[in-house]
Amino acid sequence: MSATPNRPRILVTRKLPEAVERRAARDYDARLSPDDQALDPAAMGDAAEGCDGVLVCAADKVGADAIDGMPDSVRIIATFSVGTDHIDLGAAKRRGIVVTNTPDVLTDATADVALLLMLAAARRAGEGERMVRARAWGGWAPTQLLGTHMSGKTVGIVGMGRIGQALARRARGFDMTVRYYNRNRLPADQEQGAVFHGTVEDLLPHAQFLSLHCPLTPQTRHLLDARRIAMLPRGAILVNTARGPVVDDRAVVAALKSGQLSAAGLDVYDGEPHVHEGYLDLENVVLLPHLGSATTETREAMGFRALDNLDAWFATGRPADRVV
Ligand code: DGY
Repeated sequence: MSATPNRPRILVTRKLPEAVERRAARDYDARLSPDDQALDPAAMGDAAEGCDGVLVCAADKVGADAIDGMPDSVRIIATFSVGTDHIDLGAAKRRGIVVTNTPDVLTDATADVALLLMLAAARRAGEGERMVRARAWGGWAPTQLLGTHMSGKTVGIVGMGRIGQALARRARGFDMTVRYYNRNRLPADQEQGAVFHGTVEDLLPHAQFLSLHCPLTPQTRHLLDARRIAMLPRGAILVNTARGPVVDDRAVVAALKSGQLSAAGLDVYDGEPHVHEGYLDLENVVLLPHLGSATTETREAMGFRALDNLDAWFATGRPADRVV
């Protein structure tokens, strides 16, 4: 089918929910992903030939090489994610390419997965599921797979943005005390009684559960290292739905083995889809494949938000979620 004249041409790097692809094809001369294969930087540049914009995903590696390899016609990269750590924002800025993301729409879905991991880790759900599937369950026993309560405990939240606040709301439903570290203290109406700590070190000794919700930046890489893990109460439970490199995997594995961490729930990994080998044989870690935003409602909303940003850019030059 020949392209309708004057419709901007966009490259969509991965398969998106059907409703999103329908809208993209309706409003753009859209080059959709036929096979949902990740593109390496050279292939991304080639595929973007003649395009005005590129819609990428969190799993795309859009480093300086990919950005420098894009044709001059590309003026905007709209990412189907709230995180932007997969994009070299400096390189985009240097080339005058606008970058947008999709905040807000995945807040609840991601907070739900953080809560799911807190419960699953605390109540040993992964171990129980594996036991049943292995046909190894001999029946109910008074001392079998004893976990720990969430109710009444303290959760420490690192990064009290939208998702951190949404987790805090959920934790209050379990009568948990909420403490948090954030670069800036929140106003009282957002804090909702949560206790602010001005440093991560100050927060850690209180955190029977620790949930990470900060973006990945050079400052937060390995934020949770061996030194800081040692500051948690013994037997604390760690949950990471932020980004893998925010934790030092070797230190987390060592702590899961020593009992300093009694359990962990992870949805994100350093070097995804690679998962640090040390986790794979441990019973006390629940491992999910980056499911934070994986609901139909959320993935559609993310796609529509990315398209809203493209629409606004091509119509007015002012997309709502511009990060560069
Ligand atoms: C994001 O949007 O950054 C998420 O990690 C994708 O689920």
